Amino acid sequence: MAIALIIPDRKLEDLQQRLQHALPTTRIEIWPALTNPAEITFAVLWKQPAGVVATLPGLKALQSFGAGVDGILADTSLPPLPLARIVDPALTAAMLQYLTGIESYYRLRLDTFTAQQQQKQWQPKSSRKLQTLCVLGLGELGTAAALHFQQLGYQVSGWARKQKDIAGIRCYAGNSQLALALAEADLVICLLPLTAQTDNMLDAQVFAMMKPGTIFINVARGAIVDDKALLAALDCGQLQAACLDVFREEPLPPTHAFWSHPAILVTPHTSAVTRVETVVAQIAENYRRSQRGLQLLNQVDLTQGY
Ligand code: GLV
Repeated sequence: MAIALIIPDRKLEDLQQRLQHALPTTRIEIWPALTNPAEITFAVLWKQPAGVVATLPGLKALQSFGAGVDGILADTSLPPLPLARIVDPALTAAMLQYLTGIESYYRLRLDTFTAQQQQKQWQPKSSRKLQTLCVLGLGELGTAAALHFQQLGYQVSGWARKQKDIAGIRCYAGNSQLALALAEADLVICLLPLTAQTDNMLDAQVFAMMKPGTIFINVARGAIVDDKALLAALDCGQLQAACLDVFREEPLPPTHAFWSHPAILVTPHTSAVTRVETVVAQIAENYRRSQRGLQLLNQVDLTQGY
């Protein structure tokens, strides 16, 4: 029995050592240097090359190294094994810190003043009056964001595919209520999972449902947004600004229009990055559970894709 870490382009020695410490009698190997693929019973995955998981016949369960699983499920040859994702208070705290920083950036008009500095312009302006906020996606991170901004004094609405009940948040559900959820919001934060239903979901029609002048923040997945529709909504002023941390293609290609659009702030997928030290315990526990055939912690519903 052994664990494979299949996470290309990342230094994995720290994760390997910490997992080894938590599971002293289990071999922890870094793909592609596997001693015997048939002995791998558990794999930790992030951006794994398509087809690799299917070459490991002894697998009992899979573990995403991130909060999302869309990249893992995109592999059409993936065997239908139990799959868990990361849910980590440190990851949630990092997301809230990022969103708080972005909210302050726009409230204090730092976008405007940065542009003015480049022109050596001195034009004081009072803060933006941002009072209403909508969170799209009310899972672990979306719910935490909604409650966080409600505590900061925002009137918060939230939207999810299924009806949620969160104290202090006006919750809307399903396509028919999307316009209601968005209509009043000064700020819209996307924290939806990427699934067949949300792929390209934020298109021209949805941007038109937003209040004119809305500020849009995407910290979920780039493919949820129709890039052209977003640019058009910014160009005509339907949206005032957009902060994008995630992109259809990452790294964002140098020729992409997002890089140089004056109303877009680009950050390189940094809003909430998994930290090895805070997630090792849940990965080790899921390995133990998988060996005993038990339900995993934070197991994904494969029929829903999140
Ligand atoms: C990051 O994007 C994650 O899903 O953890």
